[in-house]
Amino acid sequence: MLRRLLSKVLLVLLIVGGSITVGSSCAQASIDAYVLRYLDAAEPVELAIDETQATRLFSAAQLSEGKRLFGESCTNCHVGGATLPDPTQPLSLEALQGATPPRDTVNGLVAFLRQPMTYDGSEETPWCRQIPESWLSQEKVENLAAFILRAAQKAPGWGTSSF
Ligand code: HEC
Repeated sequence: MLRRLLSKVLLVLLIVGGSITVGSSCAQASIDAYVLRYLDAAEPVELAIDETQATRLFSAAQLSEGKRLFGESCTNCHVGGATLPDPTQPLSLEALQGATPPRDTVNGLVAFLRQPMTYDGSEETPWCRQIPESWLSQEKVENLAAFILRAAQKAPGWGTSSF
């Protein structure tokens, strides 16, 4: 009797203990240390949505998801915000601001990513990676754009055009 009770208690402890460990490692995985340290995002950060001065808050978890997506699909060509195939067009704030139409807002970046255009906006470019809705939802592509924008504002060494 006592044995059965003990083994039940042990089983419960195992399950609870296991889920606590899994739970806390998930919480850690969703926030990237780089985001806290270099993007200064311990508190949600305010980013421009469009040219009207409207802003939206992005949390450390959202920026971390953006960073993960960037690492998975963009870093090969855009390591550290540079553009390896064409270094004159990095992901720096200055370069994003100078594009036509400007890409230094969340919506501006999302529009570019849904349909990449040349720097002067005159035609589609085959060089960058297009992100259709079937690949990344609106929410995900916005988190990706927010990460790029915040990195361009804050991350040391981001978007260099000289190697
Ligand atoms: C195969 C290489 C390659 C990959 C992968 C790639 N890009 Fe690009 N990207 C480029 C090139 C080249 C340009 C310049 C395109 C042009 O003007 O013709 C560019 C331009 C850009 C620009 C505009 C920069 C500016 O100064 O206006 C942004 C923003 C951008 N890429 C984001 C991304 C994101 C986000 C991803 C990942 C989903 C990505 N790119 C994946 C090659 C790449």
